Amino acid sequence: MDSRVIVITSGKGGVGKTTTTSNLAVALARAGRRVVAVDADIGLRNLDVVMGLENRVVYNFIDVLEGNCRLNQALVRDKRVDNLFLLPAAQTRTKDAVSSEQMEELCALLREEFEYVLIDSPAGIESGFRNAAVGADEALVIATPEVPSVRDADRIIGLLESMGKAPIRLIVNRLRSQMVRDGEMLDVTDVLDILAIELIGVVPEDDSVVKSANRGEPLTFSDASPAALAFQRISMRLTGKDVPFPKFDEENGRGLFAGIRKLFGMKS
Ligand SMILES: Nc1ncnc2c1ncn2[C@@H]1O[C@H](COP(=O)(O)OP(=O)(O)OP(=O)(O)O)[C@@H](O)[C@H]1O
Ligand SMILES: [Mg+2]
Repeated sequence: MDSRVIVITSGKGGVGKTTTTSNLAVALARAGRRVVAVDADIGLRNLDVVMGLENRVVYNFIDVLEGNCRLNQALVRDKRVDNLFLLPAAQTRTKDAVSSEQMEELCALLREEFEYVLIDSPAGIESGFRNAAVGADEALVIATPEVPSVRDADRIIGLLESMGKAPIRLIVNRLRSQMVRDGEMLDVTDVLDILAIELIGVVPEDDSVVKSANRGEPLTFSDASPAALAFQRISMRLTGKDVPFPKFDEENGRGLFAGIRKLFGMKS
């Protein structure tokens, strides 16, 4: 099968990796792709909860690697949409329970079954991150428009480059246009200036993200909230569709859209 293994990572914790993984997995599956979302956050797993599948977890991927079960016994099939699966992390193990070689082995197994393998990485730049990234071809880096997050993203991009991942693309999450307008938040152009990688999407701050996480129902199942639409656009861009960036901020010609126009050498 022609498959793509994509690690979703950030450096800094709490910036939206798990949210992004779950929403993109659902959006891709709804578009007919065969998808597995892999929770590589060993010990702190929560992708199962955000996806509403925690009650159906029996085995995890370490069980597969240790030969306690077969891959298809550990995969949790989502009943709401065809072709969507979760491969859970172990709750009671530590990040060094697996080696890089084992993670590569696991990704090779998943490539045989899935078109899209989305790996939710733990925070940090330690072994947990490396194990999440080692078997991936490409990476999505999540950053919020805040200096510490951008700095950590920069560090992680350097590591991903040294590991040979390509393409490495950026998602700016939790953008608040009003704060950008007020000069209180970095805008997307500022972030892109620093990180100098390709932008694949911008997700606004949106309360429905928190509600959906509590309900165990990723927004891309049905919702038409701003964040849901942003994740849908990102999933389409991932599959190679040319989806224009919307005009987030029409006022005073600044902010997101002006920045993006500048980036592509267009007149504001
Ligand atoms: N666009 C958004 N708007 C509002 N809240 C958001 C948005 N994105 C993420 N959040 C919230 O931020 C919190 C952290 O998100 P999430 O768990 O996806 O981050 P993470 O990078 O996976 O964290 P960790 O590093 O701990 O694994 C969650 O409560 C989530 O609901
Ligand atoms: Mg997470």
